[in-house]
Amino acid sequence: MRGVDMKYKTLILCYQDHLAVLSVNRPDKLNALNNQVLDEMNQALDEIEANPQWRVLLISGGGDRAFVAGADIGELRDLNARSGKKAAEKGQKLFRRLEKSHLFTIAAINGYALGGGLELALACDVRVAADHAVLGLPEVGLGIIPGYGGTQRLPRRIGRGHAMMMLATGTKIQAAQAVQIGLVNLAVPRDQLMQVCQSIATEVSKNGPLAVAAAKRALDQGLSTSLDEGLAIEAREFGKLCSSADRTEGMTAFLEKRAPEFTGR
Ligand code: COA
Repeated sequence: MRGVDMKYKTLILCYQDHLAVLSVNRPDKLNALNNQVLDEMNQALDEIEANPQWRVLLISGGGDRAFVAGADIGELRDLNARSGKKAAEKGQKLFRRLEKSHLFTIAAINGYALGGGLELALACDVRVAADHAVLGLPEVGLGIIPGYGGTQRLPRRIGRGHAMMMLATGTKIQAAQAVQIGLVNLAVPRDQLMQVCQSIATEVSKNGPLAVAAAKRALDQGLSTSLDEGLAIEAREFGKLCSSADRTEGMTAFLEKRAPEFTGR
């Protein structure tokens, strides 16, 4: 790892090969998302997205207990109807930005992923949990509902039945159960979490960056429209890639029996 960026107070950002690693770093508060974390995550995304070298973003939590244990309840307590709506919109905007980013995003869930923490993970492309991780949307127990996209993304990821059960009971589930219901892609021993995530990042980074970004767009846009419109989106994306230098390089490399050298053009 290199390039640890000290300009953030609540995040640690470092880089390796094609990978940016962002840790929410308030371990004494189990990495709860306060306003400063949300602002700094926006700044960090500006920085990472501006450099095409970074293709994969891995998000994790500082310390060894939590990924993120939710939005900061100390800040939530003072909200009223107007400021509450604005606060929800602020978190939603950030997570939607993350979801639509050209970066391929991996949530490395290294402990509690509760409330806004699970919502953050849900906005990532894949979720890998350490086997001690605990996941849930316990907001109803605080008299509120998830406000950073949880009521919308959870049923899209795991279906209405499982989502409603989690939302209405506020139950916290273990990593193994999260795998069973499709909430996370896989659960791994905690000492292997970063290594597994890095190897996924390496696999993704070997592929054409335009192609990975197009696959992500086609998948996400297609999920929120009809099959016919989704197929039209796929055909448009496929056509665009057919005129890319990466397509030429990928196929030439295959025929020449060598690894491709993609340039993202
Ligand atoms: N917001 C603000 N602070 C939080 C927090 C959150 N979402 N989650 C944890 N913390 C803080 C605690 O207040 C505590 O701070 P303190 O040491 O200054 O008192 C510190 O993090 C450690 O948490 P603690 O509750 O003492 O640890 P625990 O091991 O007993 O319990 C949890 C761990 C995750 C079960 C518990 O912290 C919890 O339920 N957190 C809230 C989860 C939640 O409801 N999230 C949704 C919010 S919308």
